[in-house]
Amino acid sequence: MSERSGTCADDPFRGRHPTSHERMTGLPWDASYHHSSPAPWDIGHPQPAIVRLASAGGFAGAVLDAGCGTGENALLVAALGLSVLGVDVAETALEIARKKALDRGVEVEFAAADAFHLERLGRRFETVLDCGLFHTFNGDEQPGYVASLASVTEHDGTLYVLCFSDHGPDTGPHPIRQDELRAAFNPSTGWNVAAIVPDRIQTRFHDDNGAPAWLATIKRI
Ligand SMILES: C[S@@+](CC[C@H](N)C(=O)[O-])C[C@H]1O[C@@H](n2cnc3c(N)ncnc32)[C@H](O)[C@@H]1O
Repeated sequence: MSERSGTCADDPFRGRHPTSHERMTGLPWDASYHHSSPAPWDIGHPQPAIVRLASAGGFAGAVLDAGCGTGENALLVAALGLSVLGVDVAETALEIARKKALDRGVEVEFAAADAFHLERLGRRFETVLDCGLFHTFNGDEQPGYVASLASVTEHDGTLYVLCFSDHGPDTGPHPIRQDELRAAFNPSTGWNVAAIVPDRIQTRFHDDNGAPAWLATIKRI
């Protein structure tokens, strides 16, 4: 035990409660980034849906990328000149993301933070991106995550959630129903769903067309 923190120095979860995904796999998220080949979702470029959003002017003000992984989406948005913070629990992913930022000369911040406690950042954001994080949480975890997102999103700010959908063949591993999104994000939790449209998520295990997804645009009340 570290005397200062009271947590085990070799605790792979660094004192936080393992997520349902980590309990299921028996491994911390960081382990996904230890292999010589990239993680299945780590496609080496931004998701096309996020590229389209960025081109359409969907990002404004201070931007948070929750569960940023190796940072491709955060780097895309930061390259537009916006202030971007990418957070993740996987330190290895953050190291890779910081190296990409340095190599590409893009100014962007990457920090370790638990998406269930974003209020600990002590910051607020006009635009928040969740690309592939929401769909890793089970129904018990969703309310805490939604409240955490609400705690850092400015009034009238915009949250984008790109998640696997249950719509169509060859779905991703954690398909989300549209009504699940609407049940999680509603006025009683501080949100109004502005739109949920079918889109795609590219992965390393689907063809170029990717997997069926929802792109949800959700406004903070
Ligand atoms: C499916 S990956 C998507 C990564 C990235 N957004 C992308 O599109 O490549 C999910 C990411 O969320 C991170 N993550 C999972 N649980 C988290 C939590 N509680 N807090 C912060 N990040 C988390 C994982 O480490 C992983 O990098």
